[in-house]
Amino acid sequence: QKKLSVAIDGPAAAGKSTVAKIIAEDYSYIYIDTGAMYRALTFKALQEGIDLKDEKAVADILSKMKIELHPSKDGQLVMINGENVSDVIRTNEVTNNVSFVAMHSLVREEMLKRQRQLAIEGGVVMDGRDIGTHVLPNAELKIFLRASVEERAKRRHEENVKKGFSSNYEQLKQEIANRDKLDSEREVAPLKKAEDAIEIDTTALSIQDVVRKIEDYLEERL
Ligand code: C5P
Repeated sequence: QKKLSVAIDGPAAAGKSTVAKIIAEDYSYIYIDTGAMYRALTFKALQEGIDLKDEKAVADILSKMKIELHPSKDGQLVMINGENVSDVIRTNEVTNNVSFVAMHSLVREEMLKRQRQLAIEGGVVMDGRDIGTHVLPNAELKIFLRASVEERAKRRHEENVKKGFSSNYEQLKQEIANRDKLDSEREVAPLKKAEDAIEIDTTALSIQDVVRKIEDYLEERL
């Protein structure tokens, strides 16, 4: 059977990683969370106390970082030079700074190289913002997930509450909207639906509905 490359893009908190993980598992494909790579770099840059606007300094940190993504029982393990950073890359501080790191072209060039390398043998589900447009322009299946900002903030809020984290819906909504704006308006590889991507509005759909739709498209291409 063919091993396809599946690109899943969309705005923040649209459910990309949730569905990508399930699809990867169903087909024994590799799941690659490219957002986690930008988050890992942001975490490291904050830790080193450098100015995130300093493109060269940020790119220099990346050049010294080995970023590994491994499947694990609760989704995936993210490691920087062998250190487990899976949780610390999800803090508000990282979330609210990652778009500033992700706008640098030196950073994106290096990430693109690494991401293509990870996908070289096919059989991957990769999620992000520029996968269909830049990283995997030849992916056999490209999906662009949308949902209203209210619905996305609500889902994230409920997730936080369930995990016992403090959470504020209005603030989440504002932060998600800000991040989308930064990611959509940057010059290099902005968040954008690829011409040949299939758009799915998940606002009124369950996770299982979205997975089923994408897997139907995948089956057509096998
Ligand atoms: O997917 P996630 O929300 O974890 O992504 C975090 C951030 O990483 C995004 O807001 C964006 O700034 C950046 N990103 C990107 N390109 C990708 C994936 C993520 O610029 N392919």
